[in-house]
Amino acid sequence: MRIGVLASGRGSNLQALIEAWKLGELNGELVAVGSDHEEALALKRAEEAGIPHGAFPLSRFSSRQEQEKAILTWLREQKVEILVLAGFMRVLSKEFLQDIQIPVLNIHPSLLPSFQGLHAQRQALDYGVKISGCTVHFVDEGLDSGPIIAQEAVPVLPGDTEDSLSARILEAEHRLYPEAVGWVAGGRIKRNGRIVVKI
Ligand code: GRF
Repeated sequence: MRIGVLASGRGSNLQALIEAWKLGELNGELVAVGSDHEEALALKRAEEAGIPHGAFPLSRFSSRQEQEKAILTWLREQKVEILVLAGFMRVLSKEFLQDIQIPVLNIHPSLLPSFQGLHAQRQALDYGVKISGCTVHFVDEGLDSGPIIAQEAVPVLPGDTEDSLSARILEAEHRLYPEAVGWVAGGRIKRNGRIVVKI
């Protein structure tokens, strides 16, 4: 399977995917990394790993729609068969998700459906939960609302700060995301509406 990644920032999840790919654990190859930020560390990581990469900053386009069109065209040129969002900070439009016609995955730093949206770790701390974690899910038109593929629980410890909790959750993300992408790429995921089963 030809896997594409979109990332806006530091790309530590991308790096975990690159490492799993190099170990032959992804059931596919990373063939494209796109970003909406020219300076994203994720693009440097792609370059170092020899993966074709492209920057699509909004400033280069007349509208968000044109930006998405360019991203979609590029992903098609790279013949991407699974799209993995790894810290991509833009909500993809309904039109993009309808047009792309391949599975689109995302990782979110909470146990969904709790704490959707931005600053999920801070939301968890403010709420006072004792367990949080991360979720890999298919992307639908809502915000962090698509069918859940995999989750890993992470304890919230006394004295945790947003940074310490984020770092603990990130370690789990780096285990969970490559594993879940490997399941999808390996055809081991069956989806029936919201219910996703590993076969
Ligand atoms: C991660 O916490 C991920 O769950 C969220 O954005 C962050 C991206 O981090 N969607 P990185 O760029 O992969 O380091």
